[in-house]
Amino acid sequence: MAAYDLSLRVWRGDSDSGDLQDYTVGVEEGMVVLDALHRLQQTQAPDLAVRWNCKAGKCGSCSAEVNGRPRLTCMTRLNLFAPTDTVTVTPLRTFPVIRDLVTDVSYNYEKAAQVPAFAPGAPAGDDGHHRMKQSDVDRVQEFRTCIECFLCQTVCHVIRDHEENKPVFAGPRLMIRYAELEMHPLDTHDRRDLLRGRAGIGYCNITKCCTEVCPEHISITDNAIIPLKERVVDTAYDPITRLGNRILRR
Ligand code: SF4
Ligand code: F3S
Ligand code: FES
Repeated sequence: MAAYDLSLRVWRGDSDSGDLQDYTVGVEEGMVVLDALHRLQQTQAPDLAVRWNCKAGKCGSCSAEVNGRPRLTCMTRLNLFAPTDTVTVTPLRTFPVIRDLVTDVSYNYEKAAQVPAFAPGAPAGDDGHHRMKQSDVDRVQEFRTCIECFLCQTVCHVIRDHEENKPVFAGPRLMIRYAELEMHPLDTHDRRDLLRGRAGIGYCNITKCCTEVCPEHISITDNAIIPLKERVVDTAYDPITRLGNRILRR
């Protein structure tokens, strides 16, 4: 594709007010949406606030909504759109705007601080080493590929459309964190009551939108949330487990 003039519509404003503004930006083959935003900054809007860092899909900083879909702008090629299309970039809708495309994502860090840390037990062998099966390593490794872009958080309707749910639901990114720890064979902490209570896993009704937007292709719903829900249900509602828990508590 040769060079052309891109119609770029960008949300400009701050926490008080803002609106969409139209620009025409010269772009070339191979550019991504973040390149177009940088060219806009260089040529017409030096005060445009846009967060980025690696430009390689690995830091999770450049998240925004492109034509309404949460995306990493550094990994969204312009050739996804026709040259005549208007490309509209707006801030992540679920979080408060600081300025232009930069949002305050501290909600995610507050929820992360509530997750009890990894708590390994004593080494099983006499040599002082912990041992894990490769299949267990592989299972939690998927969750460790999360780059904290928060695209899954912004798309989840439980918090996207219901601000009032933020205090009671941690969101899919944090479900990945809980899964990483709960499924770790060396961890000794039981977080199932927390999942049911403070993390609000029951609010997730498995719409799978989080999985669809994850740039790391983590099977958030199938591999983390559904198995966690099963564990929570087993502890809280299975009559034999409940009876066992009651006896053990005596
Ligand atoms: Fe981003 Fe995927 Fe991590 Fe969610 S789980 S924060 S979408 S990398
Ligand atoms: Fe939200 Fe994902 Fe559940 S989008 S409702 S956390 S499946
Ligand atoms: Fe790092 Fe886009 S700039 S993921």
